[in-house]
Amino acid sequence: MTTILDGKKLRDKILAELKSKLDKLEKKPTLVVILVGNNPASRIYVENKKKTADKIGINSIIIKYPEKITEKELLDKIHELNKDDNINAILVQLPLPKHISKENIMNTIDPRKDVDGFTPYNIGKLFSGEKPFCYPCTPKGILLLLDEYNIELEGKHAVIIGRSNIVGKPLIQFLLNRNATVTICHSHTKNLSDITKTADILISAVGEKIIEENMLKPNCIVVDVGIFKDATGKTRGDVDFENVSKIASYISPVPGGVGPMTIASLMLNTFELFELKNSNH
Ligand code: GUN
Repeated sequence: MTTILDGKKLRDKILAELKSKLDKLEKKPTLVVILVGNNPASRIYVENKKKTADKIGINSIIIKYPEKITEKELLDKIHELNKDDNINAILVQLPLPKHISKENIMNTIDPRKDVDGFTPYNIGKLFSGEKPFCYPCTPKGILLLLDEYNIELEGKHAVIIGRSNIVGKPLIQFLLNRNATVTICHSHTKNLSDITKTADILISAVGEKIIEENMLKPNCIVVDVGIFKDATGKTRGDVDFENVSKIASYISPVPGGVGPMTIASLMLNTFELFELKNSNH
């Protein structure tokens, strides 16, 4: 029998707790989300972030720019937001158009307003085992989900597929912090299934259907971070859910697993940055 790692249920619990804290505040936190261009997935993510923020009492502002905005214009806006005392969290939705350097953007966001935990300061803190101002939202959400189900990580072999800066790379550090043994696989990994078969915990963040039940150890824990539309338009993840759920002890569904947890983490991070700012005054 497999247990579903229910991200929606945990998200609702986290947001309800957060809302009751926010209800008591006179001044509310403010999150600014910058969206450049017309990436359809990014537009949906950004709208979902705003909807959630509005529901729980976080002020949210979406700033939309056309694809052709210059890097300088975007950097100027970030400088302005860094200085604005009414803004306590800044998120620049990725990916950015090719003519804009993501590194230059991340180097410019004030680490104390970096709600994604993507600035070099916060990443450096994370990787040196110190506390950043914010932890990246998707890995944070995955850990909250595993913790909710009391899944022990110490000494377990965790295999991550995908080496992105948003998920795979920061996740290495989260898992090491919990004393897991971590392997990271990617598009050049040879004999992938030889490795995945040794995983106690498999976390897949690819965006393609790649995980079948014959690649896994019985009773393993499977976390599916992939999300895409298949040929029939159905939203699905990296994992063959129907067959893998017959052998996994725990599995996160798509939709309804990691996605809602990412949003919950973003709201938590926004609140934590707001508290940080107020504690410094
Ligand atoms: N694009 C996909 N996921 C994310 C995320 O967590 N943060 C940002 N800023 N962009 C993303």
